[in-house]
Amino acid sequence: MTATLIEGKLVAEEIRAELKKRIAALEKEGIRPGLAVVLVGEDPASQVYVGMKEKSCAELGIFSDPHHLPAGTTQAELLTLVRRLNADSRINGILVQLPLPDQIDETAVIEAIDPDKDVDGFHPVTLGRLVIGVDTFRPCTPAGVQELLLRSGVNLEGKSVVIVGRSNIVGKPLANMLLQKAPGANATVTIAHSRTADLPAVVKGADVVVAAMGSPEFIRGEWLKPGAVVIDVGVNRVDDPRAKRGYRLVGDVHFESAVKVASRISPVPGGVGPMTIVMLMTNTVLSAERTLKKRTGGK
Ligand SMILES: NC(=O)c1ccc[n+]([C@@H]2O[C@H](COP(=O)([O-])OP(=O)(O)OC[C@H]3O[C@@H](n4cnc5c(N)ncnc54)[C@H](OP(=O)(O)O)[C@@H]3O)[C@@H](O)[C@H]2O)c1
Repeated sequence: MTATLIEGKLVAEEIRAELKKRIAALEKEGIRPGLAVVLVGEDPASQVYVGMKEKSCAELGIFSDPHHLPAGTTQAELLTLVRRLNADSRINGILVQLPLPDQIDETAVIEAIDPDKDVDGFHPVTLGRLVIGVDTFRPCTPAGVQELLLRSGVNLEGKSVVIVGRSNIVGKPLANMLLQKAPGANATVTIAHSRTADLPAVVKGADVVVAAMGSPEFIRGEWLKPGAVVIDVGVNRVDDPRAKRGYRLVGDVHFESAVKVASRISPVPGGVGPMTIVMLMTNTVLSAERTLKKRTGGK
C-alpha cells in the first residue's frame, strides 16, 4: 500500500480563495480586517514566522500592523502596547509571536489580549470556551489539523484518534476539538506523551494518528494500523550535507516506512505548516465579521 498525500498546500490555497471572497464582502461594508503582529527581539525562526504572516496578510488584503520591538523591551512596555491594540478599532486580531524574552511573563501577556482579538487562540478564555464547545477562535495549528482532515474527507465520527504530544498549543486543544459533538469531530481521543507506556501499542490502536512531539522521524510505519490516517505536525531540522542549507526538514513520523502502511499521510514540509498561517488569517477575518455583526445588531 502507498498512502495518498494530504497536501496542506492545496487545502490552504482553497481556504485562501474562500477568504478573499469573505474579505471582499467585508470591504463592501467598509471593513478591512486588521492583524497586529508583535515581535520582540531578533530570534531568527520568529522573524521568519512573522515575515510569513505579514506576507500572507498582504496577499489577502488584510491590514497588517507590524510591531518589531527590541529584545530589551520590558513587560510593562509590551503590556502597554497590547492594551493600545485592544482599544484600536482597526485591529481585529493581535498576535504576539512566542517565545518572548526571559524578562517577560508570557502568560501575563497572553492574558492581557482581549479574547475578542485572540486570533492565535491561546487566551484561557478562548481555551475554556473551546473545552465546553462554545463558539470561539480555534488555535491555529490544531484548527489546521482539523480542517485538513475535514476537507480531505476523513470522517472522524466514532474513530479512534491518538494524538502524540500534550502541549498547550497543539495536543491539548486539538484533543478537545476532536472530541466535541460537532462536524469534523466526534472522535474517541487518546493523548500520548513522554510518560506513555508502550507508545507503539497505543499508536497501533489508532485509526488516525496525529504526531506533535518535536522528535524527528520517531513514529515508525511498523507502529501503524494498516490503513491509518497520519497527520504529522512535527517540524524538525536534521543535518543533511547534500542539502543546499546543510539541513532538511522532517516530521515526527518516519515518512518512508509510514507511507507504506498508512492510507493517507500529510508530508513535512507542505502538510500542516501552510495550514497554520491560513487558519490565523481565517480567525482574523472571522473576528472582523463578528465586529460587523455587532455593528449591525446581529443581522
Ligand atoms: N506546523 C506547524 O505550524 C507547527 C506549529 C506548532 C508546532 N509545530 C511542531 O510540532 C512539534 C510539537 O510542537 P509543540 O510545541 O507541541 O512541542 P512541545 O511543547 O515540545 O511538546 C511536545 C510533546 O511531545 C511529547 N513527547 C516528546 N517526546 C516524546 C516521546 N518520545 N514519546 C511520547 N511523547 C513525546 C512531550 O511529552 P511531555 O509532555 O511528557 O514532555 C510533549 O507533550 C514540533 O516539532 C513543532 O516544531 C509545528
